Amino acid sequence: MSLLQLLLGLLSTVADFAKSWSVVGSTLMIATAVALAYVWQPSLPEESYDFIYKYKFPAESQPKWSQKDPPVGVPPRPSVYNPNRPDLIHCYCPATGQYLCRVSASTKADIDTAVAKCQKAQEVWKATSFKQRKAVLKVFLEFLKKNQEEVVRIACRDSGKTMVDAALGEIMVTLEKLAWTMKYGERAMRPSSRSGPANLLIRYKAAEVVYEPLGVVLALVSWNYPLHNVLNPIVSSIFTGNGIIVKCSESVVWSSRYFVEMVQTCFTICGHSPDLVQLVCPWPNDADYLTSHPDISHTTFIGSKPVAHKVLAAAASSLMPVTVELGGKDAAVILDEHLGSWSNCDAIASVLMRGSFQSAGQNCIGIERIICEPKAYDSLSKVLAKRVPALRLGSSLDDDQNVDVGAMINDSRFEVLERMIADAVKNGAQLSCGGQRYRHPNHPVGSYFQPTLLVDVTPEMEIARNELFAPVMVLMKAENVDDAIRIANSTKFGLGGAVFGKRGSAATEKVVREMKTGNIAVNDFATFYVCQLPFGGVSDSGYGKFGGEEGLRGLCLAKSVCRDRFPGISTSIPPVVDYPLNSVKTAWEFVRAMNAAAYATSAKEFVMSLVQLVGNLK
Ligand SMILES: *[C@@H]1O[C@H](CO)[C@@H](O)[C@H](O)[C@H]1NC(C)=O
Ligand SMILES: *[C@@H]1O[C@H](CO)[C@@H](O)[C@H](O)[C@H]1NC(C)=O
Repeated sequence: MSLLQLLLGLLSTVADFAKSWSVVGSTLMIATAVALAYVWQPSLPEESYDFIYKYKFPAESQPKWSQKDPPVGVPPRPSVYNPNRPDLIHCYCPATGQYLCRVSASTKADIDTAVAKCQKAQEVWKATSFKQRKAVLKVFLEFLKKNQEEVVRIACRDSGKTMVDAALGEIMVTLEKLAWTMKYGERAMRPSSRSGPANLLIRYKAAEVVYEPLGVVLALVSWNYPLHNVLNPIVSSIFTGNGIIVKCSESVVWSSRYFVEMVQTCFTICGHSPDLVQLVCPWPNDADYLTSHPDISHTTFIGSKPVAHKVLAAAASSLMPVTVELGGKDAAVILDEHLGSWSNCDAIASVLMRGSFQSAGQNCIGIERIICEPKAYDSLSKVLAKRVPALRLGSSLDDDQNVDVGAMINDSRFEVLERMIADAVKNGAQLSCGGQRYRHPNHPVGSYFQPTLLVDVTPEMEIARNELFAPVMVLMKAENVDDAIRIANSTKFGLGGAVFGKRGSAATEKVVREMKTGNIAVNDFATFYVCQLPFGGVSDSGYGKFGGEEGLRGLCLAKSVCRDRFPGISTSIPPVVDYPLNSVKTAWEFVRAMNAAAYATSAKEFVMSLVQLVGNLK
């Protein structure tokens, strides 16, 4: 159906309705709708139009961009680090191996400067209203929506992912984060009134928690979603009145600089200091300097466990609170009851494929293990064995043919992956397809790994226990629901997860309750993340939550305030316990009776204690 047909259809519906109503009424209705369509536009500052409609995107992100003369002194094989110039970070496109630029790694002095600037800007920013904060987010939201394609291309050039993967994993989730924060953020930040004491004698006290910004906060983010991972903490931090230092990964400095600069422009447009958001990129060894910095109040760390140990050790020296999000080994548990008949399981196979291969599997909450009951196992392994080999690798920015799966960030883990896959096969797993690095004919220096399907994987295999973060799909067989939960629980991780069953069935709910994980989606994959729920893991997946209301409040000082509930009623110290005490014995009897009365569990106890209390009042 064409757009015109759709419009005509709509018009005729309205016309039918108009016939049965009055001509005047329907004309009014249509006029209101048309007027609304014009009036209901975001009111944006005048200065934002050039930014939104005329932003100059980098040449490197254009389709089929090629570097004419790579500068001298560039390492022959793509590598962020060159021992001859340890002060520089080298940026490459993982999909083509093309050189992008070199950037000075942030030094301790750079970090100090960034923190000082941020602190100064935050002093002013903390006094802004939610309306002012939302105005900044709104400019960015409009910019992102209007320039989806150009922004996506920057993320693709730097990370090697495909444009469709980026539209989902970068743009959609970031738009949602912005829209949700603008719509519901203020509610989470409202002072929260609490029940007050249970003590009958001090019920006149009212209790409340107010949320105040912490100051300058820090986010150490991973490279797998260069746009979203940088924007996500920025949105929460600035909305809560904080300033933020973002430390990006050395693998995506090139794009991160553009993304942070875009946010800074939104601040300038709205009349605020762009210094509130700072990007730094020191080498991992200097990251300690950030996490022990006395002027930073909170750290959100997304990364791996070995690095987390270092971050936390450094944070201990300045008592820095840290929210830790580490890897995962997410299980999708597929119950036989999910489908009445397994003769057609294409729909669920599609979800599993997106869950496993999006972003070439480099997804914290990607599906790392598919655990099936017997019927589901037989059907899915057949269908997936046909569908996975059909996936096409390449650079969606540069290739003319269709591309499903992009490159990996670099080739540094290929050997480990190949070894783990070979090891699984040696121990009885079946390699249905893939299993090795791939030399792409168009991009011989690109970092590609074949989309891989391994079936008959068992929980003892290394491949079933370690996070792969790669385009590798792993199928495991479970005898029944309990067995499936046992297998799902058999890793040290606990970040995300999924269960596919019958809506509301006992088995589905059992998996929801018993899977050892921080987040779980029912009959879907990773939706808990988009839904702006508090996000975080258990065990080796880390602790603390970001995202949602808890995430916003986590970036605040929750200040507890206690006031008198009624005018004219306040605490006065009875003479009997006033310093200096007249009689220690009477004072003791008084306080003892007071405690007994306050926590009395029967009317008799209350009255008796009260009588004693009054008796000892003088
Ligand atoms: C590969 O990427 C990882 C993750 O960003 C990074 O730590 C590592 O230094 C990179 N290796 C090379 C050779 O670029
Ligand atoms: C899975 O782990 C959870 C949380 O540790 C536990 O409550 C549950 O009993 C475990 N279930 C199985 C079958 O291992």
